[in-house]
Amino acid sequence: MSRAFPDHPFLTGAWEPWPMEGEVRDLVVEGELPADLGGTLYRNGPNQQYAPRDGYHPFSGDGMIHAFKIEDGRCHYRNRWVRTPRFNLEREAGEALFSGFGNPMANDPRTKGVAGGPSNTNVIWHAGRLLSLVEGGLPPVELDPETLETIGIYDFEGELTRPMDPAVAEFMGAKLKDGRAAGIFTAHPKIDPATGEMLGFAYSVFAPYLTYIVVSADGRITRNEDIEVPFPAMVHDFITTEEHVIFPLFPATMRVERAAKGESVLKWEPELGTKVGVMPRDGSSADVVWLDADPGFVFHPMNAHTSGRKITAEMAQFVTFPLDEAPPGGNPATLTRWHIDLDARTVRYEQLDDAEVEFPRLDERRTGLPYRYGFCAGSGDALRGMPDLLRYDLQTGRSDKHHLAEGSASSEPVFVPRSADAPEGDGFLLSVVYRGAGRSSDLVVLDAQNLADAPLATVKLPHRVPAGFHGNWRPA
Ligand SMILES: [Fe+2]
Repeated sequence: MSRAFPDHPFLTGAWEPWPMEGEVRDLVVEGELPADLGGTLYRNGPNQQYAPRDGYHPFSGDGMIHAFKIEDGRCHYRNRWVRTPRFNLEREAGEALFSGFGNPMANDPRTKGVAGGPSNTNVIWHAGRLLSLVEGGLPPVELDPETLETIGIYDFEGELTRPMDPAVAEFMGAKLKDGRAAGIFTAHPKIDPATGEMLGFAYSVFAPYLTYIVVSADGRITRNEDIEVPFPAMVHDFITTEEHVIFPLFPATMRVERAAKGESVLKWEPELGTKVGVMPRDGSSADVVWLDADPGFVFHPMNAHTSGRKITAEMAQFVTFPLDEAPPGGNPATLTRWHIDLDARTVRYEQLDDAEVEFPRLDERRTGLPYRYGFCAGSGDALRGMPDLLRYDLQTGRSDKHHLAEGSASSEPVFVPRSADAPEGDGFLLSVVYRGAGRSSDLVVLDAQNLADAPLATVKLPHRVPAGFHGNWRPA
């Protein structure tokens, strides 16, 4: 018999795990799904299988994929947990065996030799494969794009050569069944719209700390470039342009020595400031220029582009590390533009708006290029719920807002172009919305150019999709 989930802010309300896997054909649609919208929206997020044995943080929850397949004005839904080695072991045992905080010291002895990473952060479609991603502890997991069944760990056919030290992997419980250490790959790769390449990286608390990784359009790893860093830090995301790869290194440092003292390896050290590593796309570690910037923290950049010797980037930027105690006045993330001057060697922050935003996205056909429109979930934070979806016009500075019904919480908006050659921003904005009142969820489809208007379509689910992280669209 399974234990009930404890009363925990990340295991109740919008975050309460959904215990079932299944399929719903022909969901009820209010309004009309656009005839030119065909494909599948996949979304990943933490959905803990068993009540945690110690504490809990959603970064450690088991990943569940929710898929909305839209065709001919109809929508079909399916959801399935990602079968990680940890998920399978715990299901066999009928209880949580791994720490809910990701602390290997708190794992049950039965976990020895089993990779403990969840796969809960993002789900992407690249080179004909659907991959569930997490930034540490487990390589990508390949899923069947129709059934969501787990095909298995996918390490780019053995080319993901940035494993942890095997002894460390053993200690961390990050060894795969065949004895190899688990490789590492970011949950936030960028797909170059011109070349189809997937640019990514791996970071770790152990040397080499940071590695730049390039995956070709046909899914082969073509580069593994270890990057020498000023200090080891948590690197959740990065930015790329047509010319540059940019590694923002915030002073959320990760030092393994702390573990020996029984402390968390992660610590906020604002006195170090932010270091911004800029590398030419075809450069190597020796070509990286590290620029000094003020402290601050970003989980998610929106986009960036290079113009001559200047780089401009837009970020959802926090004042301080959001996992630390917030300063008086709070710690909102706001849309902030970075002005990087490679000649003057400076980075200047410019807050563009005072709305609290997260999960910035764009029309990804403009990834790394000059662009005009960005989209965010907004006017709140992930825990309290974000009642709005926002569109920023970065040319005019104007923002448009779609305010959801009372008691609703938006999630990451995903932009889908109306057609492959539609102008930038002409298309649809999709977001899975939690309705607190009915403890159910809807998939909301907005006209991305008329965001404030009533949704084009609201796809009604009979159950709730818990608050989650990231997802992507796979065109039909
Ligand atoms: Fe993220």
